[in-house]
Amino acid sequence: MYLGLDLGTSGLKALVIDGEQNVVAQASAALEVSRPRSGWSEQDPAHWIDACKSVLRALPATVKREVKAIGLSGQMHGAVMLDASDTPLGPCILWNDTRSAVQADAMDADPKWREITGNIVFPGFTAPKLAWVREHQPQVFERVAKVLLPKDYLRLWLIGEHVSEMSDAAGTSWLETSKRDWSDTLLDEAGLSRGQMPRLVEGSDISGVLRAEVASEFGFSVVPVAGGGGDNAASAIGMGVARAGQAFVSLGTSGVLFAASDGYRPAPETAVHTFCHALPRTWHQMGVILACTDALNWAAGLFGTTAKAMTDELGALQAPGRTRFLPYLGGERTPLASASVRGGLLGLEHATDKSAVTRAVLEGVCFAFADCRDALGATGTRIERVFAVGGGTQSDYWMKALATALEVPLMLPDAADLGGAFGAARLAMMAATDDALVVGEPAVARIFEPDQTLTGAFREAHESHRKAAEFLMDYP
Ligand code: XUL
Repeated sequence: MYLGLDLGTSGLKALVIDGEQNVVAQASAALEVSRPRSGWSEQDPAHWIDACKSVLRALPATVKREVKAIGLSGQMHGAVMLDASDTPLGPCILWNDTRSAVQADAMDADPKWREITGNIVFPGFTAPKLAWVREHQPQVFERVAKVLLPKDYLRLWLIGEHVSEMSDAAGTSWLETSKRDWSDTLLDEAGLSRGQMPRLVEGSDISGVLRAEVASEFGFSVVPVAGGGGDNAASAIGMGVARAGQAFVSLGTSGVLFAASDGYRPAPETAVHTFCHALPRTWHQMGVILACTDALNWAAGLFGTTAKAMTDELGALQAPGRTRFLPYLGGERTPLASASVRGGLLGLEHATDKSAVTRAVLEGVCFAFADCRDALGATGTRIERVFAVGGGTQSDYWMKALATALEVPLMLPDAADLGGAFGAARLAMMAATDDALVVGEPAVARIFEPDQTLTGAFREAHESHRKAAEFLMDYP
């Protein structure tokens, strides 16, 4: 059996698969985000360890005894700064924290960052966070002995070593993404050195072995721990998205359009992310929108209701009305690359009611995904087979609207929950068995086809969404 651990933003999940990749056990524990100031987003790494202990305790002893390898997946880009005794120097600054926008802009203005990493330096990425700490908390910066990504801090507790893997490391802005190695040039520029970085392995390689103390406390053997992947790369492995043409959309707190590519194809000018995939010699591209279900939850809060109640009220898919919603509640990554842009609700009229606003919110997110598709397409990336995952897939209306906006069928995987934990378990299986064949596609439960009678109307509305986005980028 193989255990996958996924350290998400809102919870930590454990999932065990058997040799046939059937899910045999699952457990999860909730996590909270603290937002002490506007734009800040933090978590205490000690809470991750507590959550991990509680899920490990919850797994059946008979299953744990049979686990042959463990894999990790996790929220990307966070900065866990450790002192020389591996004690965190403060809370982890998370992927959706925008305090380092000024530092990110300054770094991004120097062409070497894009040249070496293949990406824009976004405020959410790790390097600008350290630049912020260097500027605002120099006494903390001086004590930084190691910088780890969230799941790699969990790994430190599991195996007692500082190790990361390529897919998550590519989201730091310190990796030379083509060479799959830390960039000494960029680390030097950041006032850091290779010695402060974790050792790098591939996602399907072994990163170390479970500490004997952890193994005996929770009833495991001393088993290998695979490199694993950032949550998106790990989810892709869970859905078998590993070759050019294969893709998935994730409708979670943030929205992701992820496509496997046939090589390293950077296109930073499009705000497309180009990262290493979790398998050796593979890369992928990704468009990221910061507010997906987050936008719907925001609207539900305004109406004093729930996202489910709002979407349940909608009937058959309709052509977009005049109302446009742009989901930039906390800035946007792809394609706008702006931490300061804010969302909009436009084209209101007397007839605009709650359901019109609900549809506008869902459509606005769909058009933001369509912007990502266009950005990926402009780099030559093919998108042929698209799975859809995440909480947003529970709304049929949203899925139909998205298939129609993207003009591509969307496949819902059969297994209820194929997130990063499943991909991490698969990577554990690969590390333990050296078997590359475990990345097949899951069975398809449902397919949402584009509504051909409405694609024209969705294209027109997408065009007006683009114009509104231009307006908002200039809005003071
Ligand atoms: C990807 C990103 C998010 C986080 C969320 O670049 O920032 O998808 O990984 O967990």
